[in-house]
Amino acid sequence: MSLVTVENVEKRFMHEGREVTILRGIDFKIEPGEMLSIVGQSGAGKSTLLNLLGTLDLPSAGRIYFKGDDITGYTSARLAQFRNQHLGFVFQFHHLLPEFTALENVMMPGMIRGERRASLIKSATDLLSEVGLKHRLSHRPGELSGGEQQRVALARALILNPELVLADEPTGNLDSATSTAIHELLFQLNRDRGTTFLVVTHSGELAAQMPRVIHMRDGRIESDVTRAANMSVPTPAADAATPESTEGSDVGKA
Ligand SMILES: Nc1ncnc2c1ncn2[C@@H]1O[C@H](COP(=O)(O)OP(=O)(O)O)[C@@H](O)[C@H]1O
Ligand SMILES: [Mg+2]
Repeated sequence: MSLVTVENVEKRFMHEGREVTILRGIDFKIEPGEMLSIVGQSGAGKSTLLNLLGTLDLPSAGRIYFKGDDITGYTSARLAQFRNQHLGFVFQFHHLLPEFTALENVMMPGMIRGERRASLIKSATDLLSEVGLKHRLSHRPGELSGGEQQRVALARALILNPELVLADEPTGNLDSATSTAIHELLFQLNRDRGTTFLVVTHSGELAAQMPRVIHMRDGRIESDVTRAANMSVPTPAADAATPESTEGSDVGKA
């Protein structure tokens, strides 16, 4: 069964008394363990779509299923529980709590869920080691570099073992060397933990490495391209966002 099924989703907003359609005819599926990107110009509707998948907002029409369950029909209490159980979020800005250490920030979702402190200390320490921050457990966010802050945010997104991590431009605020290291970490976590990652990105470098890239334009999916496994090696000149040879191909929709 697919992890996520998006069926004919539309999103409209009221803006200055007028209804504007931001997303239309959005159809795609995500399989368990997949690693995929959404790319497209600013304003294309990427964050709006991610918010719908993250159940932070509701579609105006259409359905979103998670493992066959229609989550668009959930009550808000059930949605909060659903997010807590199944989803992890990473944003462009890390949103770490400044007065808490890296370890405490990573433990926080578990504390809120009421898990035992001792076991959370262990799992948060393990996760911070996994993202390369074993030596920064007691640092506060202000004492960490931008890349380190995003590593902490990633560890925090993973602490409750979500099946799906939604990341919105997680390296949009980082220099290119730091971004590359974070991109490598995303692939490592996908490989080692089997977590599904959906990453909205401006980075051509990241998109070029992704097994699957959904290209959005003006609120629609313009292309949904799955690369053959042996084609996933990035080439410096590649404009990843628009792979010309496969543009418009239907392979990714199968
Ligand atoms: N709450 C809202 N009300 C009205 N328009 C919105 C709202 N949120 C987003 N939009 C509009 O929707 C379009 C897509 O926004 P967004 O999903 O943030 O794009 P992207 O993430 O691809 O840059 C933009 O034109 C934006 O102005
Ligand atoms: Mg956005």
